Amino acid sequence: MKEKLEEIKVEAERELKAVSDETALQNIKAKFVGRKGVITEILKGMREVPESERPQMGQLVNEVKQFIEGLFDKRFEEIKEEKKKHILLTERVDITLPGRGVPLGAKHPITQVMEEIVAILERMGFEVAEGPEVELDYYNFEALNMPKDHPARDMQDTFYISDEIVLRTHTSPVQIRVMEKQKPPIKIIAPGKVYRCDSDVSHSPMFHQVEGLLVDENVTFGDLKGVLSEFVRLMFGPQIGFRLRPSFFPFTEPSAEVDIKCVICEGKGCRVCKNSGWLEIGGCGMVDPEVFKSVNYDPERYTGFAFGVGVERITMLKFGINDIRLFFENGIRFLKQFS
Ligand code: DAH
Repeated sequence: MKEKLEEIKVEAERELKAVSDETALQNIKAKFVGRKGVITEILKGMREVPESERPQMGQLVNEVKQFIEGLFDKRFEEIKEEKKKHILLTERVDITLPGRGVPLGAKHPITQVMEEIVAILERMGFEVAEGPEVELDYYNFEALNMPKDHPARDMQDTFYISDEIVLRTHTSPVQIRVMEKQKPPIKIIAPGKVYRCDSDVSHSPMFHQVEGLLVDENVTFGDLKGVLSEFVRLMFGPQIGFRLRPSFFPFTEPSAEVDIKCVICEGKGCRVCKNSGWLEIGGCGMVDPEVFKSVNYDPERYTGFAFGVGVERITMLKFGINDIRLFFENGIRFLKQFS
């Protein structure tokens, strides 16, 4: 029996060395020292051992059992260690890999163009002024030389809150609010939202304008033309064609529309410019003396010019967008193009 035990020891040691994964190890362990293992088998044979030798033999068997178990534990640790080393080597974290970027939002194209317009005019010395979007009829119309029954009110489809309160239909009322509070010289721009009851591919019930107003002694139409031509060149590039076309507004005299050469056909005539070769981006003119009267400026002493440009219109022309409603649908694929 002693020899058998020696053999078992050697056999166990040999098998253990050959094994390299945990399950195989567990199997071998069961084979030797498990409940149905070789050692158990030997213990069963104890009955045949003479009674006097039994204690000694029993101890020997136990020693062998413990020895083998010790071997297993050691091998088990070794395998665990090897496995860990393998993981550390193969699953090494490459800290030089670039991180996963957090997707950033971007400014809305209207905001971008609005800021660009404001920046250009600020560089020319205009200061930003603001006024309310819910406006008195007085500022939106009356003080701008559009009395209640004036036919020019039809040019703008107004959202009325009450008889006296409207959603402003243009940024021009800011002119009046500024002139009421300040004496000339005045050199302001008023960017902001305006509202009209109108909606199709080129009209939105809410859109944006940037108003300009310059009042001083000896201001001429030439000054107006200089500011606007410089503005469109900075906005659309030095090659852009520019013209002022005679028009009418109740609050300016004389008045003009601000046109640029068609950015699509470069003046040859196309669908976008309705074959005229020109595109309108706003209105302008010399401040009407009636407007000065409503803010108690002396029309004999002061002259001034004003202009108002459409931000959506400018943005559409700059980027070749053919439907104004795209600006307000918040389609991520549309907006992503401007980041
Ligand atoms: N307020 C006009 C509109 O919304 C645009 C405009 C025209 C503004 C002439 C002006 C101006 O300041 O002088 O249609």
